[in-house]
Amino acid sequence: MNPEVNFTLKDIFKELPAYPKFRKGIRRAPKREFNLSLEETSLALKNALRYVPKDWHEVLAPEFLDELLSKGRIYGYRFRPTYKIKGLPIDQYKGNIIEGKAFQVMIDNNLDLDIALYPYELVTYGETGRVMQNWMQYHLVKKYLEEMNDTQTLVMMSGHPMGLFSAPKNAPRVVITNGLMIGLFDDIDNWSRAAQLGVANYGQMTAGGWMYIGPQGIVHGTYSTLLNAGRSKLNIPDNEDLAGKLFVTSGLGGMSGAQGKAVEISGGVGIIAEVDESRIQSRYNQGWVSFIANSPKEAFDKASEYLIKKEPIAIAYNGNIVDILEYSIDHQIYIDLLSDQTSCHAAYDGGYCPVGLSFEDRTNLLKTNKEEFKKLVDIGLTRHYEAIKKITKKGTYFFDYGNSFMKAIFDAGVVEICKNKKNDLDGFIWPSYVEDIMGPLLFDFGYGPFRWVCLSGKDEDLDKTDLAAMESIDKDRRFQDLDNYNWIRDAKKNKLVVGTKARILYQDAYGRLKIALKFNEMVRNKEVGPIMLGRDHHDAGGTDSPFRETANIKDGSNIMADMATHIAFGNASRGMSLVSLHNGGGVGIGKAINGGYGMVLDGSPLRDEILKTAMLFDVMGGVSRRAWARNENALETSKQYNELDNNSHITIPYLTDELYIKNLVNSKYKKGGN
Ligand SMILES: NC(=O)c1ccc[n+]([C@@H]2O[C@H](COP(=O)([O-])OP(=O)(O)OC[C@H]3O[C@@H](n4cnc5c(N)ncnc54)[C@H](O)[C@@H]3O)[C@@H](O)[C@H]2O)c1
Repeated sequence: MNPEVNFTLKDIFKELPAYPKFRKGIRRAPKREFNLSLEETSLALKNALRYVPKDWHEVLAPEFLDELLSKGRIYGYRFRPTYKIKGLPIDQYKGNIIEGKAFQVMIDNNLDLDIALYPYELVTYGETGRVMQNWMQYHLVKKYLEEMNDTQTLVMMSGHPMGLFSAPKNAPRVVITNGLMIGLFDDIDNWSRAAQLGVANYGQMTAGGWMYIGPQGIVHGTYSTLLNAGRSKLNIPDNEDLAGKLFVTSGLGGMSGAQGKAVEISGGVGIIAEVDESRIQSRYNQGWVSFIANSPKEAFDKASEYLIKKEPIAIAYNGNIVDILEYSIDHQIYIDLLSDQTSCHAAYDGGYCPVGLSFEDRTNLLKTNKEEFKKLVDIGLTRHYEAIKKITKKGTYFFDYGNSFMKAIFDAGVVEICKNKKNDLDGFIWPSYVEDIMGPLLFDFGYGPFRWVCLSGKDEDLDKTDLAAMESIDKDRRFQDLDNYNWIRDAKKNKLVVGTKARILYQDAYGRLKIALKFNEMVRNKEVGPIMLGRDHHDAGGTDSPFRETANIKDGSNIMADMATHIAFGNASRGMSLVSLHNGGGVGIGKAINGGYGMVLDGSPLRDEILKTAMLFDVMGGVSRRAWARNENALETSKQYNELDNNSHITIPYLTDELYIKNLVNSKYKKGGN
């Protein structure tokens, strides 16, 4: 290690920087819960002051304390960069190795003022999904990435850079964990305490795993979900789209913002309720919603015009989802597909706006009276539930869209939402979209959200990779391949890029490998600059999440996190450039363990070798677990894999005769055994 280089804020800043100005119009995170004792408050303060030299404490201690008391967290606003953070072309970053520079691009894209949900609070999306906990960590991480060489690994624990450690050349350069807690303490109260103390970060997935590519990442998943919901629930043929069908939902935030774009690409008509006008405006300016309605009547009138014409349109309704659903009931308006994408995984932290409160009232109440806010959330969710109950009775297909919506309704006290009418162990009365659609039709085959970022920042690189990816797809193999082919063919036309030049493309294990190897070859031949590969957690492997990704695992192992842990181990041992593991994902603390990876393609043969095993394991590790849970399509996919890969073998389960088992158990069973 170069003894000249120091990794302290004093060395980075030389003297205490001036307090930065806050620009008007930038969305700010609401106050987070603060309930630390006197002693714990001192501990939180001491924890934050570990990052700064003692001679700055007199200024910073009162400042940090004020942040903690007024915002519920210490963000270290003083160290917020005054320049505009943005994912720049890779060659504009300092660094000794390509990975060090590449990860700076990814971090800066996650914190881009125009992309992140609450950029000043380091929140990228999903109300609470943060890149790191505070700005002191940001500067230290940047410094480490600038200085790192190819025999070192940066160890990140909940946003805190523990340091650079010696590692082999083919080891990951960055290993990240976020919010992993000991089982006994793995609940929201203990997590909240740890977050206030400054020792826990909620990374969601691509926020804390540095792999966010804007809402494009979820547009493809939403497009596939809507098309397949139409096919399996509305009897739409495989080669047709959602023309003439109405989809109603809520949320135009970080991820939910994708819904408008996805419904338009799927050919349908969408009404998306959103309480925050600023988010509607962002999506409108971006062209992801095409009309803003200020009343339910205006929204449904516009929808009906397009339903009759059978033309697609995404309509943003500026108001609460409950109001628009109740209006549809009162006016007997038929909805084909219904969902919700408010941030229910963090309902009491501001993720769900209670009906009757404006967005501004919600923000004030959160600050002034959290208990009252919680009560109103419960009332709102109960009304929301009652409305959906009435609407689905008429034949509308409702699906939970992976935001812990039904769990939040259960937590609000509505026990009848549980299948067993007692608790959530057997799931809920309505399907999650994974249980019904994505699980059997995509994940069990290994299809998932493969993505890449052209680190050069050049449009032409993205065009070339789009074309190469499209040429790699056999569109006649399955309807999923045709959907993916159409997606990538039209991706440029659909103007999906927000931030870095990135693309998402659902692919199965071999599809991902084929494209990855092709891209590395293109980098080697200097046809394009370096490329970052990755994925999100909404995938066949990598995530154990009984309320979402693994909702269609029915052998009882849905409460285990073995698979996600193994995928992370596997990706690290095979040499992915970045490996991450998080608690919570898109559903909330204690409800999921999810991991991801980043792989920097530099054109080298070493990358080819790593890809050949890591890309397949990342997907097939998940499919094998789905097969062991007896999922039909995963079984087939695993059997094919056993034939294709002569150096791997997946254990295949014997299947039972259902009736025989049922009769046998019925005839012999006694509670508690003999
Ligand atoms: N299905 C998936 O693939 C997937 C992927 C990512 C995230 N998610 C989940 O979806 C949820 C939303 O994610 P996000 O990143 O968009 O979060 P977000 O917080 O950025 O957006 C949610 C939006 O809902 C709005 N909202 C809240 N209550 C409302 C109400 N009652 N009526 C109308 N609008 C309301 C908020 O103003 C906000 O803009 C999260 O729970 C996330 O974990 C699902």
